[in-house]
Amino acid sequence: MSVLSAIGVSRTYRRGPEVIHAVDDVTLHLEPGVLTIIQGPSGSGKTTLLNVLAGWEPPDSGHVEWRGVERHPSTLAWTDLTVVPQRVGLLSELTVAENVTLAARIRSEPLDTGGVYSRFGLDDLEEAFPGELSAGQQQRVAIIRALIDRPAAILVDEPTSSQDEDNARLVLSEIQSLVRSGATALVASHDPIALEFADRVIRMRDGRLDET
Ligand SMILES: Nc1ncnc2c1ncn2[C@@H]1O[C@H](COP(=O)(O)OP(=O)(O)OP(=O)(O)O)[C@@H](O)[C@H]1O
Ligand SMILES: [Mg+2]
Repeated sequence: MSVLSAIGVSRTYRRGPEVIHAVDDVTLHLEPGVLTIIQGPSGSGKTTLLNVLAGWEPPDSGHVEWRGVERHPSTLAWTDLTVVPQRVGLLSELTVAENVTLAARIRSEPLDTGGVYSRFGLDDLEEAFPGELSAGQQQRVAIIRALIDRPAAILVDEPTSSQDEDNARLVLSEIQSLVRSGATALVASHDPIALEFADRVIRMRDGRLDET
């Protein structure tokens, strides 16, 4: 059964007199153990679709299902669904370690982060604040934060946009290893490297999906 699905989802924006069909009647089922890459030109609606699946934007029509049941995704636990937004979204007043462990601390659960910072090339940066990190380092922290709780589904928007080639492969292989343990991942990416890690590739154009 699908973990997370968009069912007939549309999302329209108005910009002055212009009506933009950012997502246009999209149905997409994300299956366990599948890493799906969504590609498409800038403005084709990838981020909007991810935001609807994350529950951050309401669809104008259609709905989101979790394990086959209609559900508002914002009611899901961080251990069910995590998100890495295109603008990364770290909390600037918290340190790297505080950002990474925030969800576990809210749940009052211990969290073993052993080795993760050095695996992601962030040695000795746990106590730094996001503003003291490069864009690529900040993006890797946001990816650690989304992976560390071993969610059943992860939505990641352009995870390699600020990474060099080695780090691009690193973050994609970490997402892939979560998927190999049974999670599902939807990754929006323009990066050809991402295709090396894809189980499934979808193209988006003018708000519509086209499976390749
Ligand atoms: N808040 C908004 N108000 C008006 N239009 C918006 C808004 N957000 C997005 N759009 C428009 O919706 C369309 C889809 O945008 P979206 O950000 O989903 O594209 P994208 O595929 O993620 O692009 P990119 O590859 O540049 O990240 C674009 O035409 C964009 O201008
Ligand atoms: Mg985008």
